[in-house]
Amino acid sequence: MTPPTNHKTQPPGPRYLIPHLLSYFRQPLKCYQDLAIRHGQPFSVPFPLGGRMAVTGCPAHIGRIFKGGAGLYRAVDATAGVFYGENSLVSLEGEAYAHMRRLLMVPILRHPASAAGLMRDAALRAFADQAVAQRFGMLDKARAITLDVILGAVFGVLDERERLEFVEAIHGLQGSIGFFAVFVKALRRDFGPWSPWGRFVRARAKCYALIEARIAAADAAKDDADGSVLAHWVSLRDPLGGPAMTRPQIRDNLLTLLFAGHDSTAVALAWSMYWTHCEPGILITLLDELEGYAGTLDIDLLGDTPYLDAVCREALRMHPVAPGVARRLNTAMELGGFNLPAGDVVMACIDLASHDPAIYPDPHRFRPERYFERNYGHDEFLPFGGGERRCPGASLAFMETRVALATLVCKFRFKLMEKPSLKACWSHGIRRPETSVRMMLEGRS
Ligand code: HEM
Repeated sequence: MTPPTNHKTQPPGPRYLIPHLLSYFRQPLKCYQDLAIRHGQPFSVPFPLGGRMAVTGCPAHIGRIFKGGAGLYRAVDATAGVFYGENSLVSLEGEAYAHMRRLLMVPILRHPASAAGLMRDAALRAFADQAVAQRFGMLDKARAITLDVILGAVFGVLDERERLEFVEAIHGLQGSIGFFAVFVKALRRDFGPWSPWGRFVRARAKCYALIEARIAAADAAKDDADGSVLAHWVSLRDPLGGPAMTRPQIRDNLLTLLFAGHDSTAVALAWSMYWTHCEPGILITLLDELEGYAGTLDIDLLGDTPYLDAVCREALRMHPVAPGVARRLNTAMELGGFNLPAGDVVMACIDLASHDPAIYPDPHRFRPERYFERNYGHDEFLPFGGGERRCPGASLAFMETRVALATLVCKFRFKLMEKPSLKACWSHGIRRPETSVRMMLEGRS
């Protein structure tokens, strides 16, 4: 006999897509918080690419989603593959995914000390020519820093001409990814350099050409000594002694790292700088803790820095780059008393968990001290997602934010030229501050 079940099928929630999207894009967090109050969690919303999406910010449900299980999920849609290439980690599933992830995880932070040195130097370089008493956009500076770092980590040392070529090509590709080409499949056709897709394809070809030239050079050098991701991938061998990764695999995954690894970290750094200079007490406490590092900027003296770490964590919590992480179900799943059917989408909502007053009291206050009052689990603090697809660059990104922030506050004096309640907005697929975070350089230490 089948045991009795009181599982309901769909979690409740709004029925129609357009009114829901209008409300969501006006105020994403408030929209989801209102739905959570009205319907409980998980609630469900119509999903733009078909079916419904069950949304939850409840840690127990998030833990269940991240636990996953063999074959439980597949990609939400195929868009990522279209942009990053079919060999990219983000396009793969199942065993192919697990294999690529193993190859990719090893090299991202192979030499933490030299990576930290790279980050410190990139932060200093970004302000080398900055005039005192002139305004600048912190987000633009942060982008320059993180692009420098990811280029260094991925390719090793580049000469200035190569570096500029990459920077230009990556900016070109970023600027060519239009909203409609992402969401409207019919527009993904090349009607020439002025059509949205044509622009994108040409910009991507430029990046490919630069990356392929670097792969060829690394292959010829056969030298893994520079510690770069590329040199490592080229040196990997399969059990028969052949290359473990094909050139298209290397190319697509290098492009993935360059993209996924720079804008998101820049946003985290810009928010950390914003809050550090918004509330004077934070900067004072931070400088107190960094006294040893400030004199020499010796990376070895940046070891145990609980307050610095807490500032970086709090910036990631207050302003998640992604509102949540979504998975499409291959098979039905039980979540919070509901039976979610195969084909639907389930979302661990970073926004809801990060602003739940039961987890983070006074959630709209920037309060690094909260991390000394209790520990937060992976299902409560999740700016990098979780489970088998958790961000592979999380350690690199966190290290980069803390090294760059520490270096900037120790070496320079800044003034924030922004209003005290800066908001976030969407741009190029991630959430970032609504302005470039205007600041002024007041002096050098
Ligand atoms: C503060 C900076 C960053 C934030 C907030 C961030 C956040 C995220 C999030 C939320 C995801 C989705 C995870 C999931 O589905 O569970 C993700 C995926 C990813 N991130 Fe990051 N990330 C950051 C930096 C980086 C860096 C520095 C790299 C590369 C060096 C990187 C590479 C990737 C890749 C390749 C994926 C796709 C993983 C997959 O599909 O398996 N990210 N990131």
